[in-house]
Amino acid sequence: MGMLKNFIACVLLVVLFLQNSCFEAGLSANVTYDHRALVIDGKRRVLQSGSIHYPRSTPEVWPELIRKSKEGGLEVIETYVFWNYHEPIRGQYYFEGRFDLVRFVKTVQEAGLFLHLRIGPYACAEWNYGGFPVWLHFIPGIQFRTTNNPFKEEMKRFLAKIIDLMKQENLFASQGGPIILAQVENEYGNVEWAYGVGGELYVKWAADTAVNLNTSVPWVMCQQEDAPDPIINTCNGFYCDGFTPNSPSKPIMWTENYSGWFLSFGYAVPFRPVEDLAFAVARFFETGGTFQNYYMYFGGTNFGRTAGGPLVATSYDYDAPIDEYGFIRQPKWGHLRELHKAIKLCEEYLISSDPTHQKLGAKLEAHIYHKSSNDCAAFLANYDSSSDANVTFNGNVYFLPAWSVSILPDCKNVVFNTAKVISQRNNGDHPFAQQKNVNELLLASSAFSWYEEKVGISGNRSFVRPDLAEQINTTKDTSDYLWYTASIHVMPGQGKEVFLNIESLGHAALVFVNKKLVAFGYGNHDFANFLINKKIELNEGINTLDILSMMVGLQNYGAWFDVAGAGLFSVILIDLKNGKRDISSGEWIYQVGVEGEYIGLDKISLANSSFWKQGSTLPVNKSLIWYKTTFLAPEGKGPLALNLASMGKGQAWVNGQSIGRYWSAYLAPSTGCTKKCDYRGSYDASKCQKHCGQPAQTLYHIPRTWVHPGENLLVIHEELGGDPSKISLLTKTGQHICSFVSEADPPPVDSWKPNLGVVSSSPQVRLACERGWHIAAINFASYGIPEGNCGSFRPGACHMDVLPIVQKACVGQIECSIPVSSAYLGVSAGACPGLLKALAVEAHCSI
Ligand code: GAL
Repeated sequence: MGMLKNFIACVLLVVLFLQNSCFEAGLSANVTYDHRALVIDGKRRVLQSGSIHYPRSTPEVWPELIRKSKEGGLEVIETYVFWNYHEPIRGQYYFEGRFDLVRFVKTVQEAGLFLHLRIGPYACAEWNYGGFPVWLHFIPGIQFRTTNNPFKEEMKRFLAKIIDLMKQENLFASQGGPIILAQVENEYGNVEWAYGVGGELYVKWAADTAVNLNTSVPWVMCQQEDAPDPIINTCNGFYCDGFTPNSPSKPIMWTENYSGWFLSFGYAVPFRPVEDLAFAVARFFETGGTFQNYYMYFGGTNFGRTAGGPLVATSYDYDAPIDEYGFIRQPKWGHLRELHKAIKLCEEYLISSDPTHQKLGAKLEAHIYHKSSNDCAAFLANYDSSSDANVTFNGNVYFLPAWSVSILPDCKNVVFNTAKVISQRNNGDHPFAQQKNVNELLLASSAFSWYEEKVGISGNRSFVRPDLAEQINTTKDTSDYLWYTASIHVMPGQGKEVFLNIESLGHAALVFVNKKLVAFGYGNHDFANFLINKKIELNEGINTLDILSMMVGLQNYGAWFDVAGAGLFSVILIDLKNGKRDISSGEWIYQVGVEGEYIGLDKISLANSSFWKQGSTLPVNKSLIWYKTTFLAPEGKGPLALNLASMGKGQAWVNGQSIGRYWSAYLAPSTGCTKKCDYRGSYDASKCQKHCGQPAQTLYHIPRTWVHPGENLLVIHEELGGDPSKISLLTKTGQHICSFVSEADPPPVDSWKPNLGVVSSSPQVRLACERGWHIAAINFASYGIPEGNCGSFRPGACHMDVLPIVQKACVGQIECSIPVSSAYLGVSAGACPGLLKALAVEAHCSI
């Protein structure tokens, strides 16, 4: 009997333990919500979430990205579902490789995290056509995103397809899977006005359809004030404090908190200071929020022709906590991790009550969460963009830097302030910026072969029309290119010098007269339309005009974006003698795609074909040329980057895999960048930018799994003209990491023990290398008042050499921590009298 009792007790214990440790073991969970939070198995949850879009990296690195997300303090991974790649041909589905959605969801599950599945099926996401398959556009009578039967049928079918797939694999929380949340549509509320009554009906229909698909998890609609019950309307934006859902029964949720912003060709590189991002997050939880998602936590790469448009760049780095190449971006990742820990310490308070508000002064306030009448957690905020302040709260005085929030898990001790960044920093703003840690291999120019493409129609694929054709309707997006060809007759006596005036809906065009390049025109992400006005010389008799109109990603955002169109819409010759000659509605000959695409020059099977020419002089600065070479992949396991700074515009393939479009020749405007961007004050996408006057992107990501030992094939299609002899291949061989912590800084958040308060009283320098590397050397260590920044530290007026102590604690380790205290560092407490001391360390990580 006693034994049986023991056995039952044991089973109960195991069950309890498994329940607490979440759903890893496949236990089903019931997900609902109330006015405070998502409720999982009867318990309100405060959740940190981050976006990772599975096709923007390769399946081989998913586990590592998710591990880094979990270590960064996330509990939820969010992704869109990309319809156009899952159903490339109507009725034919594809879920392989980077598009293996089930594998991705299971990878999240294996890591013990939850998943938010944003099925849409409209995604936006700077993804080609917002995720819609282009074939959808050709269904007779269809109108996207409104109450239109053909559209609704297709949308419903795809929603059902994805939900069935998830159910078959037991991936919803009720089945023991990780999916706790689903999204239908995306930010429709921003454009609903443009669809009139049809839009309102569509919202109701989308909500109904979603709910009837019985996922057993709550649905959300983001930026959708009129989201019908029970769908939760959520907020997207740089800040979401102050957001109120459309019903008092719904929790305050934030589905897109931009960690930075996306990049477009021809623009400077946007970034968002972590102090502001942390401020936004802390304000959100302070004012009642309980679920927050970083868009993006890892952005990745727009491989192939997946980038949306117009002109979205190939890098989707997004200044995210994990960079495009999968490396941890510091101090962003580390500072947010501390923030997540601080919020976690408050979770029990956040879920126990609504916040109470206390005004502490002008633009100074506190929000307090109570567990019981004398047990509380508090957030103190100074939302003034320039003035620091001292505030009195609960009888104590606190210093609050401008634009910052302090978190007090016991209403007394500050464990974290959003403006105080004490986590590790990396030297340089880009994974390949630390020259000392990069191996650069110049591709041998002698090894290049090339193929010069014919200008204009090649072969017998042409067709004729009596007008200028819209490009998407003509190419069906099977290619970026459409040739428009016309003949111009010049009679004796007619002017030979004319102005050629071309208007295009986008996105770029190369113009050839009598097979000679005369002009190149292009738009930009915000204005795809452009005009070319060029004086040209014609011959008497027949002249040929060949215009190659090029698309750089299909539009993905805006009301009716699907019918925005592209390509030429007016071609006029203006001759000073005889006036205007509008040839827009003359005879035009067309060809979809360029010659090299038809030949298949990007394919491995053609690598040794006779199409490729070799010779002693490599042609450079030539338009419409293909180059090919082979390279040996540098040793190691890390990602590679191809430096295409010397090239113009085109696309590149490695072993037959497209690594995306490049456009190095398009420089960002020379103004709009600030050397140091002040994080204080409201952020928007143009506030903090770098690399003005430079190309948006010169480095292109080659995932390690796309190369192999021995020779690898590189093929480049250059449209404008470039010099391939300067292309190089980069790998990262190590990293320089730094930390600068003052004795006045708070100790790490995890040294806080609930009920006991802070147990370790000293702040700490903490250093960690990327996985696979270890600390090989300490380059600098000074305790006192060290000067300079990471990479340029130098001893200051007071300097104590603590190198041996730091070396002992760190060298050979993957990570180490050093208390910033005179006692630990073996320094007499009276050293540097009257000065606030700090410890600065620079370490080198390598294999
Ligand atoms: C939002 C949209 C996202 C993404 C973002 C900008 O409006 O919902 O999908 O496009 O903007 O990166």
